Amino acid sequence: MGRALGAALAHCGECHTPRNEAGGMRREKWFAGTAQGPEGQRAPNITPHGATGIGRWSAAELADLLKTGLKPNFDDVQGLMSEVVEQGYKYLTDADRAAIADYVMSLPAIDNRVPEKASKPQSGYD
Ligand code: HEC
Repeated sequence: MGRALGAALAHCGECHTPRNEAGGMRREKWFAGTAQGPEGQRAPNITPHGATGIGRWSAAELADLLKTGLKPNFDDVQGLMSEVVEQGYKYLTDADRAAIADYVMSLPAIDNRVPEKASKPQSGYD
């Protein structure tokens, strides 16, 4: 795997992996999502778990999201995820995005339901 890909994947983990009290990433929950991601944003479980992760997505759908910011249901991703797509992932090659998607889909499926933020009002402007 090329260096750019390795860096991109490490980057996913920064947001999508929950942290312990010391701020370290919890390896046993690699990519399993956290309600307390960077800037307090909820980062979903992106392991291929069928019920709590993205196990029902195809690798091609995941690669598409990294290019367009659109999920398989045509919702667009919000917040930090839309920023990283806009600022980085959409400029990768299709082959690189496919390689990232294949890697993510090959991870162990982790059963981790990340609670929705019920308390946050939906302003629609952030
Ligand atoms: C800077 C933080 C950050 C980085 C880096 C990041 N994400 Fe995200 N990601 C998020 C957030 C926050 C959301 C939730 C967006 C929303 O609520 O619409 C998200 C949503 C997603 C979703 C949608 C999941 C779902 O069930 O709706 C997928 C898939 C995803 N990210 C994959 C990735 C992959 C793959 C990478 C690395 C190539 C990555 N993300 C890097 C923060 C990040």
